[in-house]
Amino acid sequence: MPLLSNKRIEYHLSRLDIDNLDHNPFVQFQSWLDEAVQDEVPEPTAMSLATSTLIGRPSSRMVLLKELDPKGFVFFSNYESKKGKHINENPWGALLFFWPRLERQVRIEGKISKTLQEKSDEYFYSRPQGGKISAWASPQSQRIPGREYLENLQTDYEKLFRTRALERPRHWGGYILKPDLFEFWQGRENRLHDRFEYILIGHIWEIHRLAP
Ligand SMILES: Cc1cc2nc3c(=O)[nH]c(=O)nc-3n(C[C@H](O)[C@H](O)[C@H](O)COP(=O)(O)O)c2cc1C
Repeated sequence: MPLLSNKRIEYHLSRLDIDNLDHNPFVQFQSWLDEAVQDEVPEPTAMSLATSTLIGRPSSRMVLLKELDPKGFVFFSNYESKKGKHINENPWGALLFFWPRLERQVRIEGKISKTLQEKSDEYFYSRPQGGKISAWASPQSQRIPGREYLENLQTDYEKLFRTRALERPRHWGGYILKPDLFEFWQGRENRLHDRFEYILIGHIWEIHRLAP
C-alpha cells in the first residue's frame, strides 16, 4: 500500500486577499457556496458539525446546510440524538465545509439553538413522504436490534399515517448555529495557504490574516 505521507497535492487555483474578501462573512460564505454549487462539487452543502459534552468530549458528524439565515446556519435533525443531547448540555458548536476541488475550507464556530417551530414545520412539510415518516420511525443514535426492526417501524408508521395526519414529531426539527467566528482557507503553493479569520466583537466583524 502506498504511504499516505507521500500523498501531496499542490494547491494553486486561487488566492485570498484582504482586498477580495467581503467585510461581511455571511456574504463571503454565500459567494464561496455559490461557486461550489456552480462548480458542481459533490454535496456542496454538506458540513461537519462538531458538538461536545458538558465536560468537553467532542464528537463530529456530517449534516446538510438547509438555510443560510441572516443570523446563522440552519440544519435539521433529531432533538434526542447524540448531537441533540450534546447541544442541550453545551450549546457551543463548530461547522466545517471542505470543497477540495476549489481548494477551500471554511470553519464556523458559535452557539447552537433550536429554530422557531414554524421553521421546523415549514421544512418538515416540504420533505418527501418517506423522509417525513423516517423522522418518526428512526430513534436516531439509539441502539437497535437490527435493520429489520427499523424497517418494521417504518412500515408501521406508514400504515398509521394512512389514517392519521402526518405531523412533525416534536423530537425532530431545526437548529441554528449563530457564528461569532469564521475562517476562510484557500490552498496555495508550497503550503503557504491563505487564511482569514473573522471574529465578532460587539456588532463588528474584525478580520485577521492567520499563518497557515
Ligand atoms: C453527507 C451527509 C449528510 C447528512 N445530513 C444529515 C442531516 O442533515 N441531519 C441529520 O440528522 N443527519 C445527517 N446525516 C447523518 C449524520 O452524519 C449522523 O449519522 C446522524 O445525524 C446521527 O448523528 P449523532 O448520533 O451524532 O446525533 C448526514 C450524513 C451524511 C454523510
